[in-house]
Amino acid sequence: MANDLMRFSVAMPEDLLMQFDALVARRGLARNRSEVVRDLVRDALVEDNCRVPGVEVMGSLTIVYDHHSSDLQDKLHSIQHDYYDHVIATTHVHVDHHACLEVIILRGDSLLVQTLADKILGLKGIKNGKLVLATAGAV
Ligand code: NI
Repeated sequence: MANDLMRFSVAMPEDLLMQFDALVARRGLARNRSEVVRDLVRDALVEDNCRVPGVEVMGSLTIVYDHHSSDLQDKLHSIQHDYYDHVIATTHVHVDHHACLEVIILRGDSLLVQTLADKILGLKGIKNGKLVLATAGAV
């Protein structure tokens, strides 16, 4: 009963619908509007659930920076040692002569993981970065 498919109507501007149909097409022949809407709703629910304080989450924080940037690497290192019990692993890739990419896997209370990610993202010299959160709970 809980997994029976229910139908509902959605109204949206034509140009938005055209962009949505292009997204459906990019996701492959096996996808249709309903499946892509379900995917997007599940993504939104996971994202929303991960932002509730007290929820245990895993996070992957991807950052790009210039390793010549003053004391940035020391600060990155110090923060990760300060939170050693929440930093599960770090992968470092040398992108080119200047740029480094790191993926830092984090675990803990959602608020703590977001605070830790914000500390890292706020360091001077970080060019860009993004935190992606996940929980074990299925939606
Ligand atoms: Ni590097």
